[in-house]
Amino acid sequence: MAAFVRKLLFLIFTCAAALSNAREPSIIYLTWMHDPTTTMTVHWHTGDEERVSALHYRKMGDSQWEKKEGIYSELPRTEFLAHTVEIDELEPNVDYQFRIVGNERIHRFRTLPDRLSRPVRFVVGGDAYFYLSTLQRMNGEIAAKNPDFVVVGGDIAYTNGRRAIYKGKDWEINRWRTFLKEWKTRMIDSEGRMIPMVPVIGNHDIKPTTLSTSTATHLLFYELFATPEKGVPYRVLDAGNYLSLFLLDSGHSFHIEGQQTKWLEKTLSERENMSYKMAAYHIAAFPSVYPFRGHGPKKLRAQWNPLFERYHLNVAFEHHNHAYKRTFPMKGNKIDPDGVVYMGDGSWGVTPRKPKKLWYLEKIAQANAVCLITLTPQKGTVEALTIQGKIIDSVETFPMNPLVVLNETRLLQN
Ligand SMILES: [Fe+2]
Repeated sequence: MAAFVRKLLFLIFTCAAALSNAREPSIIYLTWMHDPTTTMTVHWHTGDEERVSALHYRKMGDSQWEKKEGIYSELPRTEFLAHTVEIDELEPNVDYQFRIVGNERIHRFRTLPDRLSRPVRFVVGGDAYFYLSTLQRMNGEIAAKNPDFVVVGGDIAYTNGRRAIYKGKDWEINRWRTFLKEWKTRMIDSEGRMIPMVPVIGNHDIKPTTLSTSTATHLLFYELFATPEKGVPYRVLDAGNYLSLFLLDSGHSFHIEGQQTKWLEKTLSERENMSYKMAAYHIAAFPSVYPFRGHGPKKLRAQWNPLFERYHLNVAFEHHNHAYKRTFPMKGNKIDPDGVVYMGDGSWGVTPRKPKKLWYLEKIAQANAVCLITLTPQKGTVEALTIQGKIIDSVETFPMNPLVVLNETRLLQN
């Protein structure tokens, strides 16, 4: 009899666990709409019957849960809902737990510190999910470095392009769902925290015919990632007194020139005293594969580079070329020790191309790589991390100072 009761209890427990797990969304990801030191935006997807957008959260160690409600939107042309809850009034540099209403599973995240009381580490890479196996390997290397957050610099899931035309109406959502499920599975740090994603728009994230602000809100990209102003992908992320990260649209749903450049100038001028200033966008002003005289690169160099130089940007992260590159410091389109260094070139999850040997490129590699940035009060280190987990390039930059120096010691240790 006792054995029968034990069996029955086991069966009940197993069924209850299965039911609660069945409600756990396979897609949950974090991003920021506002201050990364005091807020966190939680997104998750469900079928269209789950019309409750709410979660419980608490500081690690607290027993009491707080409830926070948000909104959901129907993902156009799909049967899914995207839920968004922004948790605010959080404390900087503190671990929190949350669970989605109707779910038992507890997740964890950490806010950024409001000063560099500990090193802050983040990753910037682009051209991410072309091949799934390449994405998975690179994601594994990124998560192993325990970044506080990761910037995906455009061409995130290759949802639009020639292949999309032949693959039918579910191609776009299926690609996004695979990418986001991978993020949930692998982008967890060694303490079990979910790693927030900061998305930047690229040419394969939207339909190329929709270069207009009036149609921007109809793109799936904007339904998936909340931004401070819906349909406007360019923005600045300010972390305390130490980092301003300018996240720009290199001409995909907003023009480079005009409104965006005016905003960039104003925003840079208001942050002259910020310790570190960096930018991330998709196409490259100093490409390693595409032509230097191309329309986009020329426009970037004319519109944005003079602003980067005037306001002493530490580093600009560029993508789209599918290789690794680092330029010499550049000012007025010449090599100049007081200039700005451009790094990256977008080879996260694509087949790496052979970069050209060009007069403005100090370091090139045909490699799958992302940039790993570590900020301390004394210096910022920017390293190139490959899919093999190797550091193939390392430079240092300094607060309020655009000077970038090669870090040979760091490379010799690898
Ligand atoms: Fe691209």
